[in-house]
Amino acid sequence: MSCVAKKLILKCFCCVPREEEPKISREYPWEIYTLKQILNATNNFHSDNKIGEGGFGSVYRGRTSTGTEIAVKRLKAMSAKAEMEFAVEVEILGRVRHKNLLSLRGFYAGGDERLIVYDYMPNHSLIAHLHGQLADDCLLDWHRRMNIVIGSAEGLAYLHHEANPHIIHRDIKASNVLLDTEFQAKVADFGFAKLIPEGVTHLTTRVKGTLGYLAPEYAMWGKVSESCDVYSFGILLLEIIGAKKPLEKLPGGVRVDIVKWVNPFVEKGAFDHVADPRLKGRYDRAQLKTAIMVAMRCTDRNPENRPTMMKVVEWLNGGLGRTEEVEDEVEEDAEIDYNEMEYDDGTDYDGYDGKIQRERHHRK
Ligand SMILES: Nc1ncnc2c1ncn2[C@@H]1O[C@H](COP(=O)(O)OP(=O)(O)OP(=O)(O)O)[C@@H](O)[C@H]1O
Ligand SMILES: [Mg+2]
Repeated sequence: MSCVAKKLILKCFCCVPREEEPKISREYPWEIYTLKQILNATNNFHSDNKIGEGGFGSVYRGRTSTGTEIAVKRLKAMSAKAEMEFAVEVEILGRVRHKNLLSLRGFYAGGDERLIVYDYMPNHSLIAHLHGQLADDCLLDWHRRMNIVIGSAEGLAYLHHEANPHIIHRDIKASNVLLDTEFQAKVADFGFAKLIPEGVTHLTTRVKGTLGYLAPEYAMWGKVSESCDVYSFGILLLEIIGAKKPLEKLPGGVRVDIVKWVNPFVEKGAFDHVADPRLKGRYDRAQLKTAIMVAMRCTDRNPENRPTMMKVVEWLNGGLGRTEEVEDEVEEDAEIDYNEMEYDDGTDYDGYDGKIQRERHHRK
């Protein structure tokens, strides 16, 4: 665990008197909550307040004594791995501030409880709009979709290019893009994120993240760099355009990945076939083409051919305002057969290859 993370947790254990008002840290713009405050806010983690559940634990909606709406993530079981995820999330979110990244409001760590407090996002996650309960009731129109795409790209570009040290998210997916009152994208969940030391081009790590979004070089060899996030972003972009899951399960149990599904349409120039049929053709065709071509570049199997997130933002801003054409070159390479892979459909894809256990830093 890094020094900052240790410091955060130690502060919680030793310095916070239980029933006081939250302390605003001078060093960091978040608060250290007391357990009582969070219990009051969430009605003792009442089941009616539960919003969702993920790999880390359950998420509850709450309201503080000052009337602020919050979301509280509660670690489900203490383990070294879970504690590390908690520390990474708090440490990384504590250092980043961007309009398209979910802000950390604070946390609590004491006894067996690990709680992370965020701003509450009233429009839930993108997954609910694309494939979940909200998909039919509240159709995301094209304009909103493209705003979400640009916002998520800007959040990622900030992590890759502006944050110091640079940050690789490693778990970009629809459930980790939350939507605020105005449907602006907030990229969330930094529990798997990696800080990239100056001068390091890539790391070799255990594979984490979610199947369907993993870049081939990462899924197969644990090789992680910013371009793994670019790949996941490309998958997310196709998912937003078409409302198809990254790995769609066909009736016979065969899984088809979204890139393979889109490819023939791109080759024929039949871009309309990729768009979500629920949009009923209500989209700008030039924007549709730009968005699909950007996604194809991002999901190039060769990481060296993928654009940077800065370039992606430039293309999207240009293409959605139609000033710049995306260069059209997609390279063929080795393929992963998802039907041959052993995996758990859950979110943590840790230890996919038993041989990849230690991290190595690769210098330029
Ligand atoms: N700040 C928030 N505001 C509103 N809803 C939230 C917030 N944070 C999380 N949620 C909801 O809680 C659900 C569970 O989130 P969580 O991040 O724990 O799991 P996940 O993203 O589905 O999976 P994973 O564990 O792989 O990240 C999300 O789908 C989202 O709808
Ligand atoms: Mg999540």
